[in-house]
Amino acid sequence: MILGHAHPAIVYAVRERVARGASFGAPTILEIEMAEELCDTLPSLEMVRMVNSGTEATMSAIRLARGYTGRKKIVKFAGGYHGHVDALLIEAGSGATTLGVPDSAGVPPEFTSNTLSAEYNDLSTIDELINRFDSEIAAIIVEPVAGNMGTIPPQAGFLEGLRERCTKAGIVLIFDEVMTGFRVAYGSAQTLYNVKPDLTCLGKIIGGGLPVGAFGGRREIMEHLAPLGAVYQAGTLSGNPLAMAAGIETLRTLKKENPYPRLEENSAYLGDGINSLLTERDLPHYCTRVGSMLCTFFTATPVHNFVDAKTSDCARFTKFFAGMLKRGIYLAPSQFESGFVSAAHSQDDLDLTLDAVKATLAEI
Ligand SMILES: Cc1ncc(COP(=O)(O)O)c(C=O)c1O
Repeated sequence: MILGHAHPAIVYAVRERVARGASFGAPTILEIEMAEELCDTLPSLEMVRMVNSGTEATMSAIRLARGYTGRKKIVKFAGGYHGHVDALLIEAGSGATTLGVPDSAGVPPEFTSNTLSAEYNDLSTIDELINRFDSEIAAIIVEPVAGNMGTIPPQAGFLEGLRERCTKAGIVLIFDEVMTGFRVAYGSAQTLYNVKPDLTCLGKIIGGGLPVGAFGGRREIMEHLAPLGAVYQAGTLSGNPLAMAAGIETLRTLKKENPYPRLEENSAYLGDGINSLLTERDLPHYCTRVGSMLCTFFTATPVHNFVDAKTSDCARFTKFFAGMLKRGIYLAPSQFESGFVSAAHSQDDLDLTLDAVKATLAEI
């Protein structure tokens, strides 16, 4: 909720729209408006398809990549989360060349047997997989800034290296920007890092709080989707007018008010404040931040991948979480989540948060 909860312009847009019908099972002009704004903003998007969640976006993007390449295998990164798609629920943290082992009950091993796992920020693990599986790999899916193992920025050359390797091996590069889309910059991570994926998945911000997802990319690939192509995808509620109204209003407000410089400043204030308080208390920590995504790992190790993230003292995080909650600050309830600063957070909110951090650290 980059604009905070119940932003008046979004409340108004949804109210006005619901009075005119909530669902038609067919595209509306709003879906076209949204598609145009997404394609105008994200450099890699030539065509886009709306869906109802981030999970649907990644699931459909992967089916499309497989249909387009005629290949079966996909690569994800350990600690990367792309929604609850069967094939993507492989044990986070598995070794670079380990074949997928399901991470959830109810997922037969056969469903993940074509999912490979690599180490984030480590191109050698991708090279190993490409050498071993050569022309069997349909897609590499990556969060351009990892946000589901805490926040882990891509190291210099990592995203560029993925781009180069995918182009060379005929692999579809999918950026999962469900979290980073319109969050780390209006143009999303692909603009911030100037790397163009073949397909992009979106969600969260583009729905303004209503259920939404989208995937899009190169026209040549997108034209393989039904009804133009043979890869089936459809959804009764996709692009429904309420989600589109909330999303369009969110994007319009972001564009008009450009909160990004202030988000950067406020997030730096909060992140640096937490870092200093932990240093003062002499507790092992490693703080990361990209724009308004931030994380404090309770570890002394620099964190560049899931193996590093797992060196964190989760018991200490649990105490930290409880202490913050007691003081009225509800953090994401896991060491392996990102925190977000929104445009609605005031200087007072940030200072109150830092006061709560100080008091909590004194007791853990
Ligand atoms: C990077 C990323 N991809 C996909 C998803 C799944 O999105 P949804 O929860 O809307 O299905 C999430 C959700 O947190 C996410 O962070």
